[in-house]
Amino acid sequence: MSFKVSSADSVFCALFARLHGLCFSKGWSEDAFMSLMAMPGAFALLVSRVETENTAPVGFALARVGGGECEIITLGVQPEHRGAGAAACLMRAITSRAGELGAAEMLLEVADDNPAAIALYQSAAFEPVGRRKDYYRGPDGRPIDAIVMRRSLSF
Ligand SMILES: CC(C)(COP(=O)(O)OP(=O)(O)OC[C@H]1O[C@@H](n2cnc3c(N)ncnc32)[C@H](O)[C@@H]1OP(=O)(O)O)[C@@H](O)C(=O)NCCC(=O)NCCS
Repeated sequence: MSFKVSSADSVFCALFARLHGLCFSKGWSEDAFMSLMAMPGAFALLVSRVETENTAPVGFALARVGGGECEIITLGVQPEHRGAGAAACLMRAITSRAGELGAAEMLLEVADDNPAAIALYQSAAFEPVGRRKDYYRGPDGRPIDAIVMRRSLSF
């Protein structure tokens, strides 16, 4: 078994909404993905699990390049396919595409109660550079800080 990352466009909005709903307590609609993918500099990626008989999408990422920065807007892997390297493949593909599109650095926000995502980003060379207090609301309405993370793409 291995993973393959491919580019996606608005034809895949329904799939993005379905995968997002499996990954987050508050899912985003197909229309929301349509609008996000239409933003200038936006790019979308799917990661698929490749097996002998079939290839199935298991995760997604949406990012946007502008002003020399790449922001990762959202990213997720279906729960039953986690821990196998799918998100790490996505991160390599996002980094590579961001560089091709002229980004010199990458930025993102992550909830400070999400250790799996924080560890993923640290393993992809992101470092914490700030905190936004009460940026998110948890499923129970509890405020959650966002950690702002950054990595340089200059080598
Ligand atoms: C965060 C998420 C995308 C990780 O996906 P994944 O496919 O399981 O991640 P990978 O298997 O590619 O792991 C890559 C690295 O991330 C880190 N990591 C991933 N899951 C982790 C966990 N549960 N605990 C600790 N570290 C973890 C590890 O450093 C790992 O590298 P290693 O396996 O060599 O130790 C996944 O848990 C998810 O979709 N969560 C819900 C959505 C979400 O939180 N998205 C990010 C919003 S900012």
